[in-house]
Amino acid sequence: MKALVLSGGEGSRLRPITHTSAKQLVPVANKPVLFYGLEAIAEAGITDVGVVVGDSEAEIRAAVGDGSRFGISVTYLRQDAPLGLAHAVLIARDFLGDDDFVMYLGDNFIVGGITDLVHAFHSHRPAAHILLTKVSDPTAFGVAELDVNQHVVRLEEKPQIPTSDLALVGVYMFTTAIHEAVRAIEPSQRGELEITHAIQWLVDQGRDVRATTISGYWKDTGNVVDMLEVNRSVLETIEPACLGEVDADSDIVGRVRIDEGARVIGSRVVGPAVIGAGTVVSRAYIGPFTSISEGCRIQETEIEYSIVLRDASVVGVRRVAASLIGRNVEVTPAPRVPFEHRLVLGDHSKVQICS
Ligand code: DAU
Repeated sequence: MKALVLSGGEGSRLRPITHTSAKQLVPVANKPVLFYGLEAIAEAGITDVGVVVGDSEAEIRAAVGDGSRFGISVTYLRQDAPLGLAHAVLIARDFLGDDDFVMYLGDNFIVGGITDLVHAFHSHRPAAHILLTKVSDPTAFGVAELDVNQHVVRLEEKPQIPTSDLALVGVYMFTTAIHEAVRAIEPSQRGELEITHAIQWLVDQGRDVRATTISGYWKDTGNVVDMLEVNRSVLETIEPACLGEVDADSDIVGRVRIDEGARVIGSRVVGPAVIGAGTVVSRAYIGPFTSISEGCRIQETEIEYSIVLRDASVVGVRRVAASLIGRNVEVTPAPRVPFEHRLVLGDHSKVQICS
């Protein structure tokens, strides 16, 4: 079995944190969301992985390399334009050969991996096996309608009036039957070859299409509350470690990972939390469910349940909570003192706030 990981597309759907980088590299607990997918694929015993890339190819290649750090072998497949998920299958035809494969959207996060799902697929080998999850706003997803026996009857891509709350998760398992399907369909109204339509084609041909409903699913929709929550749930599973320096005046409590070259000086860090490589935390409090990325400076600040991205600095701010702070952001005090700040700052923002 092979894997096809989709990391192309374009940044046209702007998010506060992805407008300057590939959305597959959005960090969850200081690790790009794409890496969790690659790890899940490796854990399921799949080593031959095609990674579809577009304009952000250089960035993806720099992050993933040849895949050896994940125990997989990566073949990069260039898609000249983001013409759809089914188009990605079309251009991967030679790489995929006649193998079954799992298609994994690089910006999706699935709690608990895919090993059991891949095994279940192996034992029946339906033409397609899709994953579904209940969502509050199905209009942003492919939506599935099941019959009383839980068989897939109808799939619709981003319907205005959804017929169910079951969204298609971005992990699909296919036999070679999908190749005929992706050749049979026409581009959708948004000009893309939709994998949803290809799967519907299989259903219409009477082919075996199965579905499993899962929980523990996340993708970046620009919703900070969701992002903080997925970050929280992953932080709860990190291995505590101290690869940096903690001075005698500091307290480290609970599940905390401090990466290489990070320094904690006269501070209290209460886990679960991660402090990225080269970050300096001084005379500060880092509270639970906080990820501080690499190269940051957190000084004379209290921060918890927050995500701080690379090279940001937060200095002299009494209390930051439930916040997402982008790369290279600087937060410094303004003359007045509010009790708490809730911030969502894009990359390279500079903000002065009361503190
Ligand atoms: O995330 C789940 C949803 O993914 C499903 O519910 C939808 O049915 C499915 O169509 C897809 O919808 P999106 O509109 O959210 O997909 P998006 O364009 O964001 O692309 C998903 C991933 O695939 C993303 O990592 C970019 C990559 N991609 C996308 C396109 C269109 C490619 O590599 N090539 C492409 O041509």
